[in-house]
Amino acid sequence: MSETWWRGAAIYQVYLRSFADGNGDGIGDLAGLRSRLPYLSDLGVDAIWLNPWYPSPMADGGYDVADYRDIEPSFGTLAEAEKFIQEAHALGIRTIIDIVPNHGSDQQKWFLDALAAGPGSAERERFWFAEGNGDLPPNDWKSIFGGPAWTRVPDGQWYLHLFAPEQPDFNWNNPEVVEEFHDVLRFWFDRGVDGIRIDSAALLIKDFDSEEESYTDHDGVHTIYQGWRQISDEYGERILIGEVWLPDQERFALYLRPNEMHTAFNFDFMARRWEAAELRASIDLTLATHVPIGAPPTWVLSNHDVPRPVTKYGRAVTSFDHAERNDGMPSDLVLGERRARAAALMAMALPGSLYVYQGEELGLPEVDDIPDELRQDPMWTRSKHTVPGRDGCRVPLPWSGQEPPFGYSTGEPWLPQPASWKGLTAEAQTADESSMLSLYKAGLRIRRAELGDGSLRWLDSPEGVLAFARESGLACVANFNPDAVELPPHEGVLLASGPLEGNLLPSDTAVWLRTG
Ligand code: NOJ
Ligand code: CA
Repeated sequence: MSETWWRGAAIYQVYLRSFADGNGDGIGDLAGLRSRLPYLSDLGVDAIWLNPWYPSPMADGGYDVADYRDIEPSFGTLAEAEKFIQEAHALGIRTIIDIVPNHGSDQQKWFLDALAAGPGSAERERFWFAEGNGDLPPNDWKSIFGGPAWTRVPDGQWYLHLFAPEQPDFNWNNPEVVEEFHDVLRFWFDRGVDGIRIDSAALLIKDFDSEEESYTDHDGVHTIYQGWRQISDEYGERILIGEVWLPDQERFALYLRPNEMHTAFNFDFMARRWEAAELRASIDLTLATHVPIGAPPTWVLSNHDVPRPVTKYGRAVTSFDHAERNDGMPSDLVLGERRARAAALMAMALPGSLYVYQGEELGLPEVDDIPDELRQDPMWTRSKHTVPGRDGCRVPLPWSGQEPPFGYSTGEPWLPQPASWKGLTAEAQTADESSMLSLYKAGLRIRRAELGDGSLRWLDSPEGVLAFARESGLACVANFNPDAVELPPHEGVLLASGPLEGNLLPSDTAVWLRTG
């Protein structure tokens, strides 16, 4: 593999807690993941990104890290993590882990030390502790999960948490914090990790002098990532991937300068409506942002924070936005699956790297009817039960068999799986050439041979149709119209997201054609 393996990689996102359970306690773990490595190798992915695997009280699904240098006991041990990295390497699969620099857990030693040391101590300087205004918090910033962004401690001071109260924000103006994370990066690179996904990457620097809430995208973050890049460069072939949600593409591009991150998630495509002109605008914008700085675009259809594509694309509103989540909006899942299949062929054909969130390759729908008392996402409680939150896309995977737990575990899964998933197990889909899984496998195989990094050329196409060609002569054509359209001239059909009607491409269908 080459130095620039990441530019065109297909990266599979493992939400470990829900992937596969190796010991029957209902919680996914490293033993389960290791036993399923052949599945991922067969699927044809180049790397695995794991959501946080550190010891954690799980107030936010592991994004509340209690120890950055160890493994959550319910997931396994550090020795097992090292074995996993080696076994994956032996199959040609790289490992990317999640680092959470904006905040830790309130059970992390640093925070416990800060509580014990009291106001004015060096220990408190690692976080944002402050006096309030009488009985009110220091300012009126709101938590991203709802409610105030400050929580009071018994001695009267308040601390900042942009997310849940169990996730105190670090003070990145403190050189000790900078040093600590440099050391954490080295710790994992030394253990063979190939890349780091940086959580909430744009939020690290706060401006408390501002009149309003001011913590997104301050220039100071770039100094931090330039420091990280020096470390990853020392190791070679190790990459930094930013979770950077920013509406302004010029600001976004700054994170991808040659001395900063290698790539960042492009959420624009995922957020757009299912509509030809919208998606074309998104592709053009993405390319225009990335090409001038020489960074490869990334394509993301889903992750553990957003509704499953099959459900999203079957709704009356097919876009996604954090403020208006459309949770629970009814969905036509047959239509949604058709579109999700077409979207997958488009995303796989576009130039750059690709992310596939576990279960996307099985076409799992969002689980909208999790019983309220089982919901775990802090969004649900912090929003005072107005936002159901993200549990619906985090339900354990169905592997095999006719009923829950579908080979996921021998015990009871931590979130219940719908009985209706029996046709969606990996086993059932492996045996079915027309399944979503078979489509992903075929697509990833062709993608590995001739797509990935590079550029595209738009082809003339009727309204409501997107058509582009890649360097190899592969053309991807997607029809968003209600009626079928004629295929452009071609030398053969390589793959289609649904049945073709002779030389016609039906509605909400995409096809890969061999052209001259
Ligand atoms: C983004 C992560 O993807 C999400 O799951 C988490 O809740 C927040 N960052 C806070 O860490
Ligand atoms: Ca387990």
